[in-house]
Amino acid sequence: MAWLLSRVAAAALYLVLVLTVTTSTSPAAAQRFPARARPTRSGYLNVTSTNSLYFAFYEATDPVTTPPTAAPLLLGPYLLNSTALSRNRKRWNRRFGVIFIDNPLGSGFSAPASEADIPRDEPTIAAHLLAALQSFMALDGRFRARPLFLTGESYAGKYIPAATKHILDANDRLPVDQRVNLQGIGIGNGMTHPIAQVTVHADQAYFAGLINAKQKATVEAMQNRTVSLVRAGNWTGARKERNGIISFLPRVTGVATSFNYSRERPYPTRPLLDFLNSDEAKAALGARRDVAWVRCSKADIMRSAKRDVEAVLARNGTARVLLFQGVFDLHSAPAGRRLAGYVQRSGALANVVIVGAGHMAAGDNRPAAQAMIEGWVLQTGPFAGAGARSSTS
Ligand SMILES: *[C@@H]1O[C@H](CO)[C@@H](O)[C@H](O)[C@H]1NC(C)=O
Ligand SMILES: *[C@@H]1O[C@H](CO)[C@@H](O)[C@H](O)[C@H]1NC(C)=O
Ligand SMILES: *[C@@H]1O[C@H](CO)[C@@H](O)[C@H](O)[C@H]1NC(C)=O
Ligand SMILES: *[C@@H]1O[C@H](CO)[C@@H](O)[C@H](O)[C@H]1NC(C)=O
Ligand SMILES: *[C@@H]1O[C@H](CO)[C@@H](O)[C@H](O)[C@H]1NC(C)=O
Ligand SMILES: *[C@@H]1O[C@H](CO)[C@@H](O)[C@H](O)[C@H]1NC(C)=O
Repeated sequence: MAWLLSRVAAAALYLVLVLTVTTSTSPAAAQRFPARARPTRSGYLNVTSTNSLYFAFYEATDPVTTPPTAAPLLLGPYLLNSTALSRNRKRWNRRFGVIFIDNPLGSGFSAPASEADIPRDEPTIAAHLLAALQSFMALDGRFRARPLFLTGESYAGKYIPAATKHILDANDRLPVDQRVNLQGIGIGNGMTHPIAQVTVHADQAYFAGLINAKQKATVEAMQNRTVSLVRAGNWTGARKERNGIISFLPRVTGVATSFNYSRERPYPTRPLLDFLNSDEAKAALGARRDVAWVRCSKADIMRSAKRDVEAVLARNGTARVLLFQGVFDLHSAPAGRRLAGYVQRSGALANVVIVGAGHMAAGDNRPAAQAMIEGWVLQTGPFAGAGARSSTS
């Protein structure tokens, strides 16, 4: 169905957690990191006897009901420009509390006790996330009752379905007062099922007018090689071959970045890295000063998580599933669509295409992303009457 931006009559509120910072900051730092940008709670959540994951929690700024009833894990409430933080008017923690967890261990501010502790498989990553959520729930007795939605983008398209299956299975075994109130998952431009996603690059770029027929055949040949490698379980080879496609497209088309083919310049990543690694930011965020914020790259990006999504949906609406894509993404976009915004639904599953956005869809088109997450969680607008149980209490 066509999807237009409109005011969402919100009926629930989100919860976020921030960390209280006692470290004094210089005037310059105070400007770069305004007090309002600090998390409600933050710090480290134990996942094993020796390891913990970094988290930052932002409580809902404009909840519409009390007590809080929903708590998605979402995109951040502030924006970083080249020099300072500015308020994101289209933040996701307007109605909801937002928890950020640097997961897996070894990413972001989550430093492993030893290199050997970095998980290499989805089951361990999922077990760590559940352990971190349990540690989070233990911080405040009121957290556990709030509906929880896991959201993420790109690689999260793999570990969110795996973690969700793990959590729902654990809920079946746990006593009621130790269950996680997981009600849905939202995945943006996720690499959930690479074998299907890797075969649309040629069509997407060709029908967008970015490449010619000869280049299309070249991309198709690369796609076919990637598929063969995936079928053979050669994840390293498959990732390399897919990276070949991702770098081929900008090279022959001249687009500035494969993440958003409408952008004139690549996304600046350096300011984020420098900012997060400043002592001021670490103090304000409650991150360990001795830990460097790092991005991590996973070897198994081409492994499919389709069966985990199917397993979640097979639970007949225990948890709802939202898939959303930015149309301008060359990594994992829908093929050949030029839409203003579209919602397709089938039972507990919803698929959304966001216009004017690339791979980081939730950051690119913030008004649309905010309307989407609020409508989906609260089951209003195009998401009214979705298949699963109600999210309001
Ligand atoms: C987390 O683990 C650390 C190190 O083992 C321990 O000192 C601390 O008490 C634990 N925190 C909680 C809340 O269990
Ligand atoms: C960045 O944000 C700060 C704070 O809102 C603002 O003063 C500054 O002008 C912005 N800089 C750029 C380059 O947009
Ligand atoms: C790619 O594989 C498809 C399906 O097997 C086949 O029809 C097509 O000819 C192949 N294209 C190239 C360029 O290898
Ligand atoms: C995986 O694929 C790469 C690239 O095609 C190849 O070089 C490598 O030998 C393959 N590895 C295995 C174990 O087959
Ligand atoms: C879901 O519903 C289908 C069809 O009614 C049924 O066959 C299946 O057993 C149900 N699954 C669960 C986990 O309840
Ligand atoms: C991505 O491309 C769209 C379409 O041109 C543009 O409106 C948007 O600003 C871009 N996003 C970013 C973050 O640059």
